[in-house]
Amino acid sequence: MSAVETRRVVAIIPAAGSGERLGAGVPKALAPLAGEPILVHAVRSLVADPRIGLVVLATPDGLEESMAELAAPHAGTAPVVAVAGGATRAESVARALAVVPDDFEVVLVHDAARCLVPVQVVGAVIDAVLGGADAVVPGAPVVDTIREVVESGASHTLDRSALRAVQTPQGFPLAVLRRAHAGGDAEATDDAGMVEALGLPVVLVPGHMRAFKVTTAQDLVLAEAILAEEAGR
Ligand code: CTP
Ligand code: MG
Repeated sequence: MSAVETRRVVAIIPAAGSGERLGAGVPKALAPLAGEPILVHAVRSLVADPRIGLVVLATPDGLEESMAELAAPHAGTAPVVAVAGGATRAESVARALAVVPDDFEVVLVHDAARCLVPVQVVGAVIDAVLGGADAVVPGAPVVDTIREVVESGASHTLDRSALRAVQTPQGFPLAVLRRAHAGGDAEATDDAGMVEALGLPVVLVPGHMRAFKVTTAQDLVLAEAILAEEAGR
């Protein structure tokens, strides 16, 4: 792989959330998982794909420098920069996007909280964007039966085989994500939704159980168990 090719992808990591639901007493990205902060696991998982040439963190206000220093030793050859995040995830992503140099071709947006994402998922997202997609999201099969509530208070079951739970990293050509954020669709719940609001298609690649989001204390127990099982191999 050439040096030019390794600089094609920038990874934005929104890590500015407080982690209310986890309730660790520290911002979620700093909560320990198997002895290391969640952020460290997330950075390591992402840069396992060597095409990532820069990592941009959105951190809680005032923690930019310390979190960049924490992440840097785990980012391989990719430099790490950090900006203060905003009040919402979308604002945190927008602030990170604002410092991304224009010479990157592909941008990934990856929740710090999905800290165990396998490299196959990261690679599949990058490949699909380089292959010409405008928006790529990993989608995992839905395990629960899902019912849709209708106006009358009644409900009906949706066809589960057609549903996917959306994970990250989500990937985009850099210019497309910039256009989507400039449009600022307030309704969109994620970056792919913002690109969709431009009228562009969103491509799915297979997600993975390990790309689950650490949201509650129970999720942290699961993440610990996955890592312990791996360490024991
Ligand atoms: N995030 C962010 N800026 C915000 C809010 C969230 O960068 N203003 C990031 C989080 O750090 C996380 C990702 O977006 O990596 C997904 O958000 P979530 O899992 O909801 O994390 P928190 O908002 O920290 O958790 P909670 O909602 O329980 O407070
Ligand atoms: Mg949140």
